[in-house]
Amino acid sequence: MVPAMPISLPAAFPRTRLRRNRADAWTRRLVAENTLTVDDLIWPVFVIEGENRREPVASMPGVERLTIDLLCEAVASAASLGIPCIALFPVVGSDAKSEDAAESYNPENLMNRAIRAVKAAAPEVGILGDVALDPYTIHGHDGLMRDGYIQNDETVEVLVRQALSQAEAGCDIVAPSDMMDGRIGAIRDALDKDGYQLTRVCSYAAKYASAFYGPFRDAVNSGGFLKGDKTTYQMNPANSDEALREVACDLQEGADMVMVKPGLPYLDIIRRVKDQFAVPTFAYHVSGEYAMLRAASANGWLNYDKTLLETLMGFKRAGCDAILTYGAVDAATLLQRG
Ligand code: PBG
Repeated sequence: MVPAMPISLPAAFPRTRLRRNRADAWTRRLVAENTLTVDDLIWPVFVIEGENRREPVASMPGVERLTIDLLCEAVASAASLGIPCIALFPVVGSDAKSEDAAESYNPENLMNRAIRAVKAAAPEVGILGDVALDPYTIHGHDGLMRDGYIQNDETVEVLVRQALSQAEAGCDIVAPSDMMDGRIGAIRDALDKDGYQLTRVCSYAAKYASAFYGPFRDAVNSGGFLKGDKTTYQMNPANSDEALREVACDLQEGADMVMVKPGLPYLDIIRRVKDQFAVPTFAYHVSGEYAMLRAASANGWLNYDKTLLETLMGFKRAGCDAILTYGAVDAATLLQRG
């Protein structure tokens, strides 16, 4: 717990003029409290079957689904910009979807082939693999459904197999985004038992049932499949104390990093988590937040470059150690230009 800041009463105006420290670029740099660098960025990417093919995502201008060969090239150029890590999402056809989501742990599924290829092409880049069943279930939910309810413990068994298959393919960080109870501990134990002690677990710890995921569901083609909503497992946006309980449970179960998602509407949660636990804390600047910046700038209402960097700095100020953002390559390019 970070102690409350001691407040000494400052001298009043006119002795105190806060604008003095803003008067020149060099003082502004000296007194800056936070920095944003390329080291803070995780780039989410979408992979599709095939070769030498790219598909734009209509609701996410600037984002493309890529075949494995093109993805490898894109990750290599992200690496040359200094981006430390990518987050990988597979876009699979209806032939890969089933009631039991068995394709999720197929060692030869699209995700695992992409992990192996990207690791070979850019070994210096970390790979974060999404662990959840939504690409592989016919109803688009993150877990197995019985009697209209997403079953917790049965789903965890499948998630464990999915996480192990990703670790075996060379994934550096497995990131359960499903919000089942107890999955972090089950995955940690299974990884350790099979010799993957160094595979990290990043928990989507406080993941809210949010309408800001809409463009992502277009991107992975799961939106059309989704029946109902995810409110019986993702968090209620009204809750904040509950996010601390989620994080506490996941840390006790062995999470190495925790994530808050979405980002901007939940900066208060990031700050509370960081203050309370002082652990590596990530935010997901999600698809809908990215789409808003792109849509407004396409209309000439906002400057995309400036609002992107300002948004990412906001995450740093709130206490984030790293940020997943579809604007990672844009931000890295802007930061390099200075
Ligand atoms: C699925 C998953 C989702 C996102 C990441 N993993 C969507 C959902 O929970 O429905 C959303 C990411 C985004 O909106 O950018 N487990």
